[in-house]
Amino acid sequence: MSQSSNQPREQWASRVGFILAAMGSAVGLGNVWRFSYVAGENGGAAFLVIYIAMILLIGLPIVMAEFTIGRKGQSDAVGSFEKLSPGNERLAPGEPWKIAGIMGVASAFMILSFYGVIAGWILYYLLNYLTGNLWSAPTDGYGAFFGEFISGSFQPIVWQFIFMALTIGIVFVGVKKGIERANKILMPLLGILIIVLSVYGLTLGGASEGLAFLFSPDWSALANPNIYLAALGQAFFSLSLGMGALITYGSYLSSKESLPGAAASVATLDTLFAIIAGLMIFPAVFAFGIDPAAGPGLVFVVMPDVFDSFALGGIFGILFFFLLAAAALTSAVSLLEVAVAYFIRKFNWSRKQASLIVGGIIFLFGIPSALSQGVLAGVGFGDLDFIDSVDFIASNIFLPLGGLIIALFMGWGFKKADALKDSDFGNTVLGNLWLFLLRYVAPIGIIFVFLSSIGVFG
Ligand code: PFF
Repeated sequence: MSQSSNQPREQWASRVGFILAAMGSAVGLGNVWRFSYVAGENGGAAFLVIYIAMILLIGLPIVMAEFTIGRKGQSDAVGSFEKLSPGNERLAPGEPWKIAGIMGVASAFMILSFYGVIAGWILYYLLNYLTGNLWSAPTDGYGAFFGEFISGSFQPIVWQFIFMALTIGIVFVGVKKGIERANKILMPLLGILIIVLSVYGLTLGGASEGLAFLFSPDWSALANPNIYLAALGQAFFSLSLGMGALITYGSYLSSKESLPGAAASVATLDTLFAIIAGLMIFPAVFAFGIDPAAGPGLVFVVMPDVFDSFALGGIFGILFFFLLAAAALTSAVSLLEVAVAYFIRKFNWSRKQASLIVGGIIFLFGIPSALSQGVLAGVGFGDLDFIDSVDFIASNIFLPLGGLIIALFMGWGFKKADALKDSDFGNTVLGNLWLFLLRYVAPIGIIFVFLSSIGVFG
């Protein structure tokens, strides 16, 4: 799908192709790796309540806004704003809104830089399940195995490289050809696998504690202002929101499709994946005596214990890390696509050229993250190490800020009648509710969370 401006844009083969691609972008490491550790660090059930509220009131309306902007703009994250906002005597078209697109391209660089590192860890675990090495606990235990691997200087970079090469390869041949098929088969398989594993988790000794942790809120956790920023960042990250990924995917859509149904399906599926992943992980966390607030290594230390606890569990280990790697790949593709689509148009590069150059630079950007658990330990902001700092800045600041601008653009920058028409809502109650959320609830909510996280409310 090389498309300099005079070639027609490639389109998804079908409506299902688009929904699957958007789902493939949303469902990834965010649902399993990131959701579980962030929920674990922020009180479990109370976090989940805030998280779901943010998806409904802020996330879902902005998903709809991104789809609408992309389909109408028929361009990348920056170009869609340029096309859609008229400009006036003082401002060029796209100003000041396209700042959201530019921040989005920057977020894609940041997020993919560390996403590749974590996905590399997944590939390394896949290899160790394939060889049988992790089928039973190493002499010093799974935790020590993990610690030794991530603190190395060589292996984490090699695996990050392999994952990035796969991502670049898919974007190189074109998003559509590359991912529609994988999404159709592998994502449902991952869904089935985590359901099976969560049912198994309920038979473990930690089931009641795990369920209580995930579903019975300790409301005192709400007094901590950080939980709101963590939930907001997780909602944006998990929905692939706030950086134009869904604008870019929406731009490959023709105008026949109905967007609200697509947006609702993507948000529902994404949230279900996270909750079921929580059901798979938290009972096991308690059964094996692991601290739920153990941080980003949580899945990597819990799941091996699970696979070790039943006969031939290693086969499930292979499946789990394989399917998770595939899910990570379809998300990484959407991250790279945001930047690549922009560079293709802006510099008139070919798709192949843009994928190699942009992907290569992002790989290099990720190297400090790959080294952050070893030689670069101690480098970062405050108590966060390097990889967590990049994640924090991109996910908790850039994505919600991008989302804020997108909400204001759709809610206030668009004529109301156009917004209702272009979104396929029409002048319905639901359409008006959507605009109300975009105009007031989402912007005020995001600003409120930002202010509370810097201590404005005490
Ligand atoms: N939503 C993806 C996940 O949950 O793993 C990560 C992601 C993809 C974030 C694409 C942002 C994005 F634009």
